[in-house]
Parts: sequence; C-alpha cells; structure tokens
Amino acid sequence: MSNNLLKGKRGVIFGALDENSIAWKTALKVHEEGGKFTLTNAPIAMRMGKINELAKTCGAEVIPADATSEQDLNNLFTKSQEILGGKLDFVLHSIGMSPNIRKGKEYGDMNYEWYLKTLDISALSFHKVLQTCEKLDALNEYASVLALSYIAAQRAYPDYTDMAQAKAMLESIARSYGQRYGVKKKVRVNTISQSPTKTTAGAGISGFDVFFDYADLMSPLGNASAEDCANYIVVMFSDFTRMVTMQNLMHDGGFSSSGITDNLVQRLTK
Ligand SMILES: NC(=O)c1ccc[n+]([C@@H]2O[C@H](COP(=O)([O-])OP(=O)(O)OC[C@H]3O[C@@H](n4cnc5c(N)ncnc54)[C@H](O)[C@@H]3O)[C@@H](O)[C@H]2O)c1
Repeated sequence: MSNNLLKGKRGVIFGALDENSIAWKTALKVHEEGGKFTLTNAPIAMRMGKINELAKTCGAEVIPADATSEQDLNNLFTKSQEILGGKLDFVLHSIGMSPNIRKGKEYGDMNYEWYLKTLDISALSFHKVLQTCEKLDALNEYASVLALSYIAAQRAYPDYTDMAQAKAMLESIARSYGQRYGVKKKVRVNTISQSPTKTTAGAGISGFDVFFDYADLMSPLGNASAEDCANYIVVMFSDFTRMVTMQNLMHDGGFSSSGITDNLVQRLTK
C-alpha cells in the first residue's frame, strides 16, 4: 500500500547488491512511495548484474561509482541531476566493507593498509558523498542524507574488528557534516543504527548467526528486518521528519535500551 510519501522527490541510492541488501529493499519502497532515483554501486559489484533487474523494476538508471573516488562521485551526482531533472531530495549511503574481516583477520593482527581501506570505504566515503553534493550544490533544502550504522560504534563486538571504528567515524561525520549542511542549506544528515540483518555484508562477519539470535532475544520487538529498515528510511526521506538531523537513530527493536530480557533469561536458565 502506497501513501505517496515521496511523490516528486529525487535521489540516489548506493549499495543494492542483491535482493537481501537493505538498499535493495529501500529502492523498492521508495519506488512504491513515488520517489525517483538513480541506483549506484562499485563497478566491481556491477559484474553480478543483479542491480539491472532492480533498475528495471523501479524504472531507475544505474550509474557505477566507487564511493571512495571523488571523480566517480562527481560524475554520479552530476549525471543523476541531469537524468532526474533537478536537484536531489534524498541520498542513501548503504556501504560497508572490511578487507580485514573478509580475510578473517583478528583484532590483534590487523593489516593496516586494509584497515585504512575499511575506513575509506565504510566511513570516509560518506564525507566524500556529502562534500561532493555540497560542491555541486546538488541537494535541495531539507534534503535528507542517510547512512547505515551498527551498535558496534558504541559497544565492543570481538568479530566486528575495524568496522567498529568505521561506524564510529561514520556517525561522527553525520554530526559534523549535519551541522555544517544544516546551517548552509537546511540539509539533514543522520545515521540509522540497524539490527543485525542477513545480507552479504552481515553474513561476512564470523559468528553472525549467534549475535543475530542474541540480538533477537535481547530486543523486546525482536530484530528489525531489512524491510522494516526500508520503511524507516522512507519516513526519514519524507517531509514528516524535516527537523531531525545530526542523529544516530536506533532501529533495533529496543536492543540498545535493554539490559537483559525474559527471553534471554529463559534461554540461559539451566
Ligand atoms: N547486515 C547487517 O547486519 C547490518 C547491520 C547494521 C548496519 N549494516 C550496514 O548496512 C549497510 C548495507 O549493508 P547490507 O547489510 O545491506 O549488505 P550488502 O552487502 O548487501 O551491502 C553492502 C554494499 O556496499 C557496497 N560497496 C562495497 N564497497 C563499495 C565501494 N567501494 N563503493 C561503493 N559501494 C561499495 C557493496 O557492493 C554492497 O552493495 C552497510 O553500511 C552495513 O554496514 C548492516
């Protein structure tokens, strides 16, 4: 059921790799709610060809961009405005990758070149997106820019390794750039801290199934699904949240405010 919450709005959605991706579900919801957008992903991810299926369903064009490349981002935001016919109202940064996690490196044995890559891809790219938009004056007043985060920015998780620092940096960029862009152009910048979700990026973390189940038991509402996240993103892109900026918004079924739950007590009672 559509409420046309995003009718007349234009944007860019990063990170739809396959049908499990949070960005994939978001693209479908934004389309359903009347928003128009371009889709983008790293050229290497394009090889899977899946994104073209999504583009067809949503009537969107695909523009490859490595989110760490200022040149690619410049091209992406210039072309997106041409294709969509004006300045943009929303941007979703749904990007995360750690070479250290991919290669199974422990936190006491980090490869620092890869560590920097993790930070560049998963956090600094958000600054690059915002700076590119500002320089091109690509966003309308009250545009909404979102990135996806995880609670490992605030709490220690052994297997999340260098991604924890990337998420802390991502959330910090949302605050700093949100302040700047709010004053300059009334643009809103936020992060959404999402429950563990079964996607390619999520499942890449060792022990994922265990902390997925743990979070589910610790959340009064249970884990938020990728589809729930897509719904929240639509609301954050809509005019109903015009005064929300510089926030890290917990979208986790209550996990972050729970000490322990009856569900977990029952599970652990011998
Ligand atoms: N899955 C979870 O448990 C979970 C929980 C909280 C937050 N998140 C965050 O949600 C976001 C989306 O992840 P997802 O779970 O949908 O997984 P996903 O694997 O479907 O999406 C990650 C995306 O990042 C893209 N990407 C990687 N390097 C890139 C680059 N250099 N340039 C452009 N794009 C690049 C990938 O191609 C992929 O599309 C990430 O920021 C992730 O950290 C995920």
